[in-house]
Order: sequence, then structure tokens, then C-alpha cells
Amino acid sequence: MVVKDGVTVGEGTTEPRPGKHAEPIALAVAGKATKGATLYSSLEPHAFQGVAPPCTEIIIDAGISTVISPIEDPNPNVSGNGFRQLQAAGIKVVRDATEEQIKRACKIIEGFTHHLNTRRPLISLKLAISLDGKIATRTGDSQWITNEYSRAKVHEMRRGADAVITGIGTVIADNPRLTSRTTDGSPTGRPLLRVVVDTDGRMPSDAAILHEPGDILWVVGKNTDVESNSTSVNIHQAGLVNGKVDLAEVVDLLGEKGLHNVMVEAGGGLAGAFLENDLVDEVAVFISPKIIGGSTAPGPFAGLGISAIEDAVKIQNITHQALDDDILIQGSITTK
Ligand SMILES: NC(=O)c1ccc[n+]([C@@H]2O[C@H](COP(=O)([O-])OP(=O)(O)OC[C@H]3O[C@@H](n4cnc5c(N)ncnc54)[C@H](OP(=O)(O)O)[C@@H]3O)[C@@H](O)[C@H]2O)c1
Repeated sequence: MVVKDGVTVGEGTTEPRPGKHAEPIALAVAGKATKGATLYSSLEPHAFQGVAPPCTEIIIDAGISTVISPIEDPNPNVSGNGFRQLQAAGIKVVRDATEEQIKRACKIIEGFTHHLNTRRPLISLKLAISLDGKIATRTGDSQWITNEYSRAKVHEMRRGADAVITGIGTVIADNPRLTSRTTDGSPTGRPLLRVVVDTDGRMPSDAAILHEPGDILWVVGKNTDVESNSTSVNIHQAGLVNGKVDLAEVVDLLGEKGLHNVMVEAGGGLAGAFLENDLVDEVAVFISPKIIGGSTAPGPFAGLGISAIEDAVKIQNITHQALDDDILIQGSITTK
């Protein structure tokens, strides 16, 4: 964020590789107002020529006078060099921050840090459930379990994600678009990569997801041949585990593409498989005060489940938020 005379003149968010970093985006928005302005950055600006040019040089050239940034970049190619370069160019670097500000900055960059440590994106699983823990009725109807505020929040979450993964079951049942939109339906932010996990290549050519801006990664099994005449559809033939797409391979592939934050928005089949394979880092569960009932209406996680409560997947760092009469509970998985 670029601030001049107390007014925000530019904002930016880092794009997935090989996209731009937040700093040049915010500086470009600010234009001439960067001269003598203050730049707030969640993370130390990077100081080397990688996929993106060094942000430090762009900041120096833009005439920024002060950089406020609480966290040193954990990437060994930076670790303090960014701050040193800025100071050497006469820019004031302020690193003082409260514990709360540091916590918030760490949260903003947690996908980046996770990717740096694991080479995989941070996987957040989003669920919308009724009060009795169902994700759809016995006929498969799930639109809409949650209220408009929860759905707007999901669009906000998509805006901050690099990709959304779904399963072929959801594509066939709900025909979702999985884009980030405002409440009036207009697209917001950069188009997301949408990933469809579809072992046998059952995705219909008229699926709504295929007809929205943004790329599609169509992951099928290694023996499944599918074709698409759309340039925005990329096909990946993945290895199989128990006859279904190897999800760890999908996560690794997204990590290799440099994606940091990925959401899973799927039915119980794929969500359960992600959980069973220890591939989920965080959950975001929207709970609606509705009762669906019925023993055949699905819950959020298919599969075998556990037999003893002590083996339950534990969630920590819990936050909760009321969204009118819905509740959003978020947390990270501890048993990985
Ligand atoms: N409330 C919510 O948050 C929410 C969100 C989404 C969907 N839904 C509801 O969920 C229902 C659909 O559930 P679903 O389970 O069929 O959908 P899903 O989880 O989106 O897709 C499941 C399919 O994914 C494919 N898949 C590929 N690799 C897999 C793997 N390794 N493990 C597991 N599955 C794999 C399987 O089909 P192949 O074997 O053919 O590949 C499987 O049938 C619908 O009623 C929908 O409305 C609810």
C-alpha cells in the first residue's frame, strides 16, 4: 500500500508466479504520487533478480521516502538484503510493529512461507454446512445452504486465492463457475486458476466452469485421453491411487507452478480424500442455522472416517465470525 499525505494512493497484492509482486502493482497505481510517499509492505521487498525484477530497485526509482515493513523475508536470497539496499539508497526503513501487526502480516504471507518451506501451496478447504452437518440434501441440492453474506465472503476468499480445486461430482451436480464475483455478479480481481479433478474425463463440454475468464487445469487419470479446443484449458494426466487421481501429485504440480494459496471447494468425495491424504492445511466452515435431516443427505467428508474420537483431526488457531445468522469457523489442521 502506498500512502501520500495520509491518503492511500495505491494498493497491490502479489500475483502467482510469474506474476507481479505487490509493490510494483501498488506503485504503478500510485503513479506520480510515489515521490516522497510511504510504502507499507507486509514482507521485506525482495532484492534480487528472480522471476520478477528486484522490488527494491523499483521502490528506489519511484522516489519512495519511507518503507514500513515488519517482517524480514525468510527466503535466504533476501533475508535483510532488501532492507539494507533501501537504507543504502537513503530510504527510511521502519520495522517497529506491535505483536498484533506482526501476527497479521504473518497471516498475509502464510501461503508464501508455506510454499517456501514445503514447495506446496497452502490448501484451505471451504465447506458450507447446515446445523446438522450436511452439505446437500438427499437429492444433491446444495444451493444455497448459507446466506448471501457467507457467499460474499467466499468470493472474497477466492479473490485472495491463486486457484480453486473442485471435483467432477460438484461440476456435474452444481455446474459452478468458481470465479470471484461481487454481489451484483461482476468479476473481481484477477481470474483464478480453476482445477477440476476428474479421473475418467467426465466433464461436459458445456460445463459453466469452462466458459468463464481464467485458465482451467483439467486433471484426469493417466489412462484417460480427453481433448479440449479451448486455449484456456490445460490437461494433466495424473498417476492413480486406488483408481483415482493422485491428489498429492496435483498439489505438487500446483506448487511447481508457484501457487501459494489454493482453496478446495468440493463435495464430500474430494474433500474427504484431501483430508484422508493429509493435504489440508486450513479449514473454513460456514455453518447455517438450517436443518436438512435424513440419513442419506451427505456430510462434508466421505471415506471411512475414524473409529476413535482421540484420532479426530484437530483444528487450532480457531477464529469465528458471525455473518448475519451464519457462523464462519476457520482454523488450521494440527495433526499433519
Ligand atoms: N455445501 C458445500 O460446501 C458443497 C460444496 C461442493 C459440493 N457440494 C455438494 O456435494 C455433492 C457432490 O459431492 P461429490 O462428492 O460427488 O463431489 P466432489 O467431491 O466434488 O467430486 C467427487 C469426485 O471427485 C473425483 N475424484 C478424483 N480423484 C479423486 C480422489 N483422489 N478421491 C476422491 N474423489 C476423486 C471422483 O470422481 P472420478 O472417480 O470420476 O474422478 C469423485 O466422484 C453435490 O450434491 C454438491 O451440491 C456441497
